[in-house]
This record gives sequence, C-alpha cells and structure tokens, in this order.
Amino acid sequence: MGKIHVMDHPLIAHKISYIRSENVGTKEFREVIGEIAQLMCYEATRDLKTRDVNIKTPVAETTGKVLTGRKPAIVPILRAGVGMVDGMLSLMPAAKVGHIGLYRDPKTLEPVEYYCKLPADCEEREVFVVDPMLATGGSSTAAIRMLKEKGVAHIRFLCIIAAPEGVERMQKEHPDVDIYIGALDERLNEHGYIVPGLGDAGDRIFGTK
Ligand code: PRP
Ligand code: URA
Repeated sequence: MGKIHVMDHPLIAHKISYIRSENVGTKEFREVIGEIAQLMCYEATRDLKTRDVNIKTPVAETTGKVLTGRKPAIVPILRAGVGMVDGMLSLMPAAKVGHIGLYRDPKTLEPVEYYCKLPADCEEREVFVVDPMLATGGSSTAAIRMLKEKGVAHIRFLCIIAAPEGVERMQKEHPDVDIYIGALDERLNEHGYIVPGLGDAGDRIFGTK
C-alpha cells in the first residue's frame, strides 16, 4: 500500500497559511507555491536510491553516496501543476519534465484529457506527478492511469492541499502510489472546491479570472 505523507514541517505550514489568504496576489502566490514545492520535493526524495562511490578529497580517500539509476521525471498536471515545476527542478536540476493536460469539467467534475507528452524511457524513471490540488481526485487518478498505461511503474504524487475525498479515491484506484500532501483539509463543497482550500489554484498562479 502506498503511504500518505502529510507534511509536518513548520516552514511548509507557514507558507501554506500565507497563500490561503484571498489577499495574496498572483506574483506572491506563484513564488510561494514554488517554495512549497521545493520543500516538499526534499521530503518526497528521501528514499531515492543511491550507490557508493570512491572520492579523493584534498585530504583523504573516502566513500560517498550519489544518486543512481535513470534521471527522475517531473510530470505536472496542466495547468496548475506547472507552478510546482521550478521548485522541484531547483533540487533535481537534471530531472526530465513531462506534461499531462487535464481540466475538470465544471459541471460533471470529471477530468477531460487534452495533452500528454512524456520524457523518453519514462517507464524506467521515478516519476513525480505534481498538482497543487487534490480535490475529488478525478484529475490525479486519471493522470496516473495515463502514466501506468504507458508502462510507468514508479510514481509518487505531490499536492499542496488535499481533500479527504481525493485521498480516499487515490488510495482506492492507485494503492501503490505514495502521496505527499502539504495540508490535509476538511472537505469538498458542493462545487467540488476544497474547504477551506485556497480557491482555484490555476487561476491564482496565472492571474486568470
Ligand atoms: C484543478 C487542479 C487539479 C484539479 C483538482 O485543475 O489544479 O488539477 O482541479 O480537482 P479534482 O481532484 O477534483 O480533479 P483545473 O481543472 O481547475 O484546471 P487548471 O489547472 O487548468 O485550472
Ligand atoms: N481545483 C482547485 O484549483 N481548487 C479546488 O479547491 C478544487 C479543485
């Protein structure tokens, strides 16, 4: 069973509280989303595989650890997931980046797929799917289904705010996927928005609406 990791770091909590406020504008919102993604990336990469290497320092020979295997891939769910990419890349600058385009039909709340472009050999990489919001779980479960259909086996999902309904759906549909959550909120409202949440993440990151 994939693990649920709810972040308990004070910096993450502080930054999430800050961007929840409706008074925070686009520039700051986007910057802080990037900072939160960077901190969450640190937590979500704790178990990446390493191998030993010999190193000769100016003082002595020693053994150190370096990352092993193919370079990881970051896959944002368009649009809002794009806001998390630079923060992730700041810690994993050599990572490949794929994109999955999905939007939530406002009436049915079902995800509508419109784009998928993944790095080569994605099935051999650790893939970090990112989206700030896990609400009903429709978008993230669909994105992960698309990845699995292409043979991707090692998937983690990072979101900044999650609703219990979305977490439950993810666990049911993708029990093998570890989920990293910045803050676990109370519930969804009748429009499928997370309560208290932070509103529409895509609109707030890109200044639309
Ligand atoms: C938002 C968000 C997630 C999705 C979450 O995207 O970024 O992708 O909703 O909701 P769900 O868990 O109920 O699927 P939206 O559909 O608003 O598209 P956008 O990123 O293009 O604004
Ligand atoms: N998508 C968002 O951007 N916000 C929500 O609260 C739910 C889905």
